[in-house]
Formats: sequence, structure tokens, C-alpha cells
Amino acid sequence: MLGRLNHVAIAVPDLESATAVYRDTLAARVSQPQELPEHGVTVVFVELDNTKVELLEPLGENSPIAAFLAKNPSGGMHHVCYEVADIEEAAERLVGQGARILGDGKPRIGAHGKPVLFLHPKDFAGTLVELEQV
Ligand code: CO
Repeated sequence: MLGRLNHVAIAVPDLESATAVYRDTLAARVSQPQELPEHGVTVVFVELDNTKVELLEPLGENSPIAAFLAKNPSGGMHHVCYEVADIEEAAERLVGQGARILGDGKPRIGAHGKPVLFLHPKDFAGTLVELEQV
């Protein structure tokens, strides 16, 4: 069911300094910051040969990463995103396996304009998992 690793997302309290670490210390290719108000984040993409790292900073009042940063004030790994070919089929399989899908259980359009689901961390080795249909 799982395809490629699409991205690893890291929540950060200060996007500018996190971007500088990746660009200057780690000599990685980084994008310009992009505000995604509908997702409550500003994101910088770190472009690697085989995948991406997304640096996420809260945007607005109800950012979905605000609670995570309250618990992890210096930032940390927030989720991993795996690709699937058919998200409805993946959802059906996961529910059949007893896994919990966050929210209303239905895929929604994610930060890349493609259908995504988030899975409960307690069901997946303590890690928030995003599935994206590609
Ligand atoms: Co993501």
C-alpha cells in the first residue's frame, strides 16, 4: 500500500532561523516561504534528491501545529507523509485494520492540492502519519 516517502514535516517556532540552518549549515536547497492560510502554516520546502523536508511555522490563530509547539518549544518532527495510489482504498483498508483516521475520517485536500488523510499517532508507533494520493 505504501509508496514513496513524500516528505518529513518539522514544526518550528522560527521559520527564518530554521531555514538558515538548512540553507547555510547543511547547504541544502530551500524554497521561498509560502503562506498557506487554509492550513494554518507557513512552509519552506527543503528539496532533497529523494524527498522533501517541510519546515512548518504556525500561521494565524488556530494553527494545527500550535499545540505541538507548546509541548515542543524548540520544534521537532511533526509528521511523515507516505504516498499511496488510491486514498479511498487505503482508508478502507486501515479502518478494517482498526486504525483511526483523524478528523471526520474523509480525505481532504492537503498542502500540495492532493487528497490526504492523517492517522492517529498511537496506532503508528507514536508518529503522526499523513497519506497522500499521488
Ligand atoms: Co505534510
